Amino acid sequence: MLIRRHTIASLRAKKDRHEPIVALTAYDYATAMAVDQSGVDLILVGDSLGPVVLGYPNTLPVTLDEMLHHAKAVVRGTHRALVVADMPFMADATPEAALVNAGRFMKEALVQAIKLEGGDEPQLAAIRSLVSRGIPVLAHLGFTPQHVHQLGGFKIQGKTPEAADEILQKAIAVEAAGAFALVLELVPDDVAGRITAELAIPTIGIGAGPHCDGQIQVFHDLVGLHVDHRPKHAGRYADVHQVLTQAISRYSKDVRAGQFAPGEPSYVADPAPGAAIDSQEGIA
Ligand code: KIV
Repeated sequence: MLIRRHTIASLRAKKDRHEPIVALTAYDYATAMAVDQSGVDLILVGDSLGPVVLGYPNTLPVTLDEMLHHAKAVVRGTHRALVVADMPFMADATPEAALVNAGRFMKEALVQAIKLEGGDEPQLAAIRSLVSRGIPVLAHLGFTPQHVHQLGGFKIQGKTPEAADEILQKAIAVEAAGAFALVLELVPDDVAGRITAELAIPTIGIGAGPHCDGQIQVFHDLVGLHVDHRPKHAGRYADVHQVLTQAISRYSKDVRAGQFAPGEPSYVADPAPGAAIDSQEGIA
């Protein structure tokens, strides 16, 4: 059976049919395969790569080369989900830089869209420029992690009527600039609901309540693989860190006790003198 990849049109159609969009991050080939095969609609190679995979304090140090490296692996592991790559901090410092760097993601990593944080004039110009060259853009408003220092930490945005209105106006502006969907991060439920009702493009929430057209989570938060910090909006679907440490401890114990025996029989040399051992023999 031919598996068709999601497109920006098929995601828009989900909003029109009131079918929730399922989105999740991934950063490597193996997890991308699991996420894709589980039927997730949109995979984001987020710059959350920095904190959850590379051990950076936040997303700011992530480079374009690091993002490209991981985006390539994710695309290789997927067939069905729309793969979106995050523009790292300052890679969109000007609309010209945004266009060149988005072009690299599309040509070298073969992602199908780019995500940009923010909705002020420089980002709107970048969205217009990318969309005019056929590069779909996922916008991102509310708490935007690349502005963490300016926002004074991981804080809910849009709590006052004025702040909520500002996010709504930016949402309308990113839609007008050509964004195909909008991530809303850490905004009150009713604010996300208002924006979702106002826009024709889908909203995809993270810590933004149930009224968005879809939900996105950071893979490592969802499955309990990032133990430094687990936001409460991530839910608790697994405790993979614990599963891993238990498995690795059992392996260590077996090796130390001289009892490591993964399968029978162990590899045996060919008894015929001088005969080569088949190098494929050990591969499952
Ligand atoms: O980088 C990322 O993973 C993101 C999501 C939190 C939406 O931007």
